[in-house]
Amino acid sequence: MKPIGALMWEHRLIEQIIPLIATEIRNIRGNRKVDVVFIEHAVDFFRTYADRTHHGKEEDILFAELAKKPLPENLTRIMKELTDEHVVARKTVSALFEAGREYRNGQEDRLETIISGLTDLMNLYPGHIEKEDKLFFFPVMEYFTKPEQDRMLEAFWEFDRKMIHEKYQNIMEQMGGTVKRW
Ligand SMILES: [Fe+2]
Ligand SMILES: [Fe+2]
Repeated sequence: MKPIGALMWEHRLIEQIIPLIATEIRNIRGNRKVDVVFIEHAVDFFRTYADRTHHGKEEDILFAELAKKPLPENLTRIMKELTDEHVVARKTVSALFEAGREYRNGQEDRLETIISGLTDLMNLYPGHIEKEDKLFFFPVMEYFTKPEQDRMLEAFWEFDRKMIHEKYQNIMEQMGGTVKRW
């Protein structure tokens, strides 16, 4: 498998949240009530999976290696757009997290902020994924030899291997525990 195969496989999971968000927005509008558990699950999915695990491999490994290659201007521009979109996604998820927390604590006026955060994520991700799948991933693979691609895939697996530990180390710290990281 090519490294982009692993990333595209992750895209297939990420895109499944889009129709769920569309349904949740309709429910919120219809009931004038937010399902806070859905928001918590969505925030965790975007933070831990879409951002840390998926964007993490894109930025820390693929984009970092591409920065060493003589990429043409159009691919450099797309890579910058993709990185900027990751930043926007991160900020939007943080705002959604905050609004969800405040709503749960009784601030019902946060409902519209929650709808707008969900709407922004629903609008951002499909286009972002399509740009990577159709315009970026295949052309950039041309800049790597087969051994380089194999090493990148290995680096992806190693990156993933740490994620479950990182997630629960973070949770333990949030719960007040002391975590020894290695
Ligand atoms: Fe991305
Ligand atoms: Fe991606």
